[in-house]
Amino acid sequence: MRDLKSELLDKRFLQPFASKAVAPPPVWLMRQAGRYLPEYRQVRAEAGSFLDLCYTPDLAAEVTLQPIRRFGFDAAILFSDILVVPDALGQSVRFAEGEGPRLDPIKSVAGLARLALSNTNDKFALVCETVQRLSEALPRETALIGFCGAPWTVATYMAEGKGSSDQAAARGWAYRDPAGFQQLIDILTETSIVYLTGQIEAGANAIQIFDSWAGSLAENEFARWVIAPTARIVRAIRERFPAVPIIGFPRGAAASLQTYIDGTDVDGVSCDTSCPLSVMQTIARTGKAVQGNLDPLLLVTGGDALDQRVDTICETMAGLPFVFNLGHGIVPETPPENVARLVARVRKAS
Ligand code: CP3
Repeated sequence: MRDLKSELLDKRFLQPFASKAVAPPPVWLMRQAGRYLPEYRQVRAEAGSFLDLCYTPDLAAEVTLQPIRRFGFDAAILFSDILVVPDALGQSVRFAEGEGPRLDPIKSVAGLARLALSNTNDKFALVCETVQRLSEALPRETALIGFCGAPWTVATYMAEGKGSSDQAAARGWAYRDPAGFQQLIDILTETSIVYLTGQIEAGANAIQIFDSWAGSLAENEFARWVIAPTARIVRAIRERFPAVPIIGFPRGAAASLQTYIDGTDVDGVSCDTSCPLSVMQTIARTGKAVQGNLDPLLLVTGGDALDQRVDTICETMAGLPFVFNLGHGIVPETPPENVARLVARVRKAS
């Protein structure tokens, strides 16, 4: 039996999700494992393909631990990818070197026949084995974050067959045939619930739902394709695991953040770089945890510009339930010494 009360006491990362301010704030960074670390590039080369790395528990656990060893973050995030879900469902994903993800696109309801929840067992089991190993290997004070992509964002990659700047394939499908697109969203919603349940049972202490393209939708579509499926995931996970915090990351949707929180009932939100600190303060004052939102490019720049912004964010969010993070993932050009500098600076803040 897991003792969730002692998890909360041991792991300072979890406390903001119980509406507590922690000084200095807990810190972890999106994409803290990745190509900016030489030790990651070495394991990545050994693994062969990126997805082979995700599906090899030994190696996936190793790259998850690398940034914890180097920087002592308060939380580790499972090393995997949001596109493991379509891959496991039956729409194979490839990561072409330097090109990003490639999928054979599904552009209409007829393409959904390729997908089945029953296909996911073996691949999800490998990811959950990684989680299990991590929950044994991590220091007691370090929380483990599991994750999935939100149904909307995952659907954008499935419909487009790759990343896109405007998500036109998914938005077009959703306008043309909302009932058909709803079927895809429903498949992803149910699959995400199964996937997150497995990660929590294997030892994840918190869950993050990445909705990287939440900002591309108009109000009604945001309600239907972002809020409604996320709310369903939150309800299902909370019913089984009431003590496990669920963090939403509706990137690009700062103006709809309160609507998102009210509609989904997440325990906390991650805010992108464009979100004003005053908006983050307002939300944190209601008792919801807020993560964010340093520009990842300032972490490339480093120096005084980095220090000043870190201080501003920490000072503005002091006394509130806050977790220091970036507004989006670390980029490969980031000098690791700037990450060490950031962590030291956050920890000096009181
Ligand atoms: O944050 C972490 O350290 C945990 C692991 C993680 C990865 N991807 C590893 C990864 C997480 C949480 C993700 C989430 C993810 N993946 C998102 C949501 C967050 C965001 O960035 O908006 C999205 C949209 C994806 C899809 C994805 N995966 C793309 C578009 C790419 C290609 C771009 C790139 O940076 O290469 C990936 C590949 C990917 N996912 C890498 C890593 C470390 C790089 C692959 C490599 O090593 O070659």
